[in-house]
Amino acid sequence: MHSALLTASCAAALIGAWALPAGAAGRLTLYCVVDEAWCQLMTTEFEKETGISVAMTRKSSGETYAQVKSEADNPKGDVWWGGTGDPHLQAAEEGLTEVYESPANADLHDWALAQYQASGGRTVGIYAGALGFGYNTELLAQKGLEAPKCWADLIKPEFKGEIQMANPNSSGTAYTALATFVQLMGEEEGFDYLKALHANINQYTKSGSAPIKAAAQGETMVGIVFQHDAVTMKATGAPIEVVSPCEGTGYEIGSMSIIAGARNIEEAEQFYDFALRPDVQEKARQARSYQVPSNKNAEPPPESPKLSDIKLIDYDFAKYGSSEERSRLLKRWDDEVSALPR
Ligand code: G6P
Repeated sequence: MHSALLTASCAAALIGAWALPAGAAGRLTLYCVVDEAWCQLMTTEFEKETGISVAMTRKSSGETYAQVKSEADNPKGDVWWGGTGDPHLQAAEEGLTEVYESPANADLHDWALAQYQASGGRTVGIYAGALGFGYNTELLAQKGLEAPKCWADLIKPEFKGEIQMANPNSSGTAYTALATFVQLMGEEEGFDYLKALHANINQYTKSGSAPIKAAAQGETMVGIVFQHDAVTMKATGAPIEVVSPCEGTGYEIGSMSIIAGARNIEEAEQFYDFALRPDVQEKARQARSYQVPSNKNAEPPPESPKLSDIKLIDYDFAKYGSSEERSRLLKRWDDEVSALPR
């Protein structure tokens, strides 16, 4: 009796061990690069549905790329979810992420699959959103300034010290801005513009959406951000007006990748499929995130700036996400723009 019990408990322990191989199953380490509220919501929803416990951290796009690269010999993260597509493409090119084909690919918009194709299957689009800026209408009125409508307005002397954007090294939003100016104006003129803008910038933040949060608090008049991030602030009741610049603008394909050598590969694939589901993508709205979802069957939030109404440039994601181009442009910005006095 005693030994039978022992055998039974050994068998149970063995079955338990079998069900949780390598001691790490049932866990997922998520590097999240969207707004904190959406990161939290995805974590909770995935845990609730699967029982897998998620260790989530939120960082910006460039910071996450740097972290994944520095951990390449001993990967700690499983999934890198969100943030602009350029560093996801750079990581793919450098073999820092895994190839994975989700069954959900069949339901994705072409722009989302373009990331998949450009990266040889190592990343995929999860949402899209256009760059622009937002301004605090009360501060604008106090200073008696005319509402800015174009990129050209932001380099006028009256906006000195009134504009905030992120640092393109840490932030994908700011890198999208840099690459947008280069594509819209040509490289030399784009850098001339960035230098002129530098004179009006009061602070380069780490995170891409921080400038519009600061504008909502009245700490800066203008924030150069993705338009949907400005809409989020407006939705909270802040006196923010959203601008789609008159010259045209660039956009992001927010992306997702599985980290090469992920310890929890099955859980990573489960999360990946989960994140591409239309019902899951539609939950973004609950976190006041208003990007356009990548699954064709997901309804974009009514608050989403409509991409078809925005003058979009033909953004060359493959070029500006290549390791050589991204590194070169960031170095040029460090050397020629951020080094200038203000
Ligand atoms: C915000 C936006 C996302 C974007 C992300 C990039 O969260 O809502 O659409 O992908 O910023 O963050 P980063 O801090 O790298 O600019």
